[in-house]
Amino acid sequence: MAVEWVDRVGEQLETDRFGRALRGFEEVDSTNVQARAWAQDGAEEGSVVVADYQTHGRGRHGRVWTADRGQNLMLSTVLRPSLAPDALGLVTVAAGVAVAEAVDAFAGTHRADIKWPNDVLLEGRKTCGMLLEGSVTGGGSRATPPDFVILGIGLNVNQVHFPEALTETATSLRLVAGRSVPRVPLLAHLLRRLEHRYDQVQAGQDAEVRRRFTERMPRLGDDVILRATGSNQTVAGRVRGITSTGGLRLATPSGEQVVHAGEVTTARRSSR
Ligand code: BTN
Repeated sequence: MAVEWVDRVGEQLETDRFGRALRGFEEVDSTNVQARAWAQDGAEEGSVVVADYQTHGRGRHGRVWTADRGQNLMLSTVLRPSLAPDALGLVTVAAGVAVAEAVDAFAGTHRADIKWPNDVLLEGRKTCGMLLEGSVTGGGSRATPPDFVILGIGLNVNQVHFPEALTETATSLRLVAGRSVPRVPLLAHLLRRLEHRYDQVQAGQDAEVRRRFTERMPRLGDDVILRATGSNQTVAGRVRGITSTGGLRLATPSGEQVVHAGEVTTARRSSR
């Protein structure tokens, strides 16, 4: 069933493409699943699926994403980047910066940080997670851009209670700002920032976007342990920043290593 508040987003949109085609649902399995089906049906770049509740919300590393009904933003955007697959990390970089900027605009005096690859944090706690899922046909060579990419964003907006396992690590805009945050202008603003930062990386202006990302990395210079996606292998090193394609640069005793997918599992402040 459609959801009324999403219909009001169009009045506040200041984008060229993002959100101009918008489908809002009271409940879906996962907005990423719905956006993928829409993309396969030919949805244009910037088409967005929003839901008030997900029965099978998906997180990174095969986890489940849960969020209370009617309190948060859960959306997926169809992207058709012209970037080669090994540069798709730049979409992640652009999305992290865009969400952090939108969060800043609604979080009072607080400033959002980005935990690589693209968790957005307020006061050290996660307020937003993102899941990028792609579809490549025709051989999927290193040089061939994907047919489409689905960027899923789960932003904790007005939720004040979290499941026990998350109470120490999750937060929301409302908890930090101390007041309820209206979702219609927040979504309109977020889509505007997203279109802008995405267009910059598509136009080769990624250096600027990467600089904005690095400025918000709280762990720059810290010693961390990183677990590579899909393996039990870990890399210990000091965070140096990100590469030109969005990989994490780690200084290790055996030289610099670059990690393209993984999770920072442990952090210890360096004595800088
Ligand atoms: C993470 O694990 O941090 C990523 C979470 C991504 C959640 C969002 S909510 C909207 C979209 N639909 C999904 O099923 N997942 C993403």
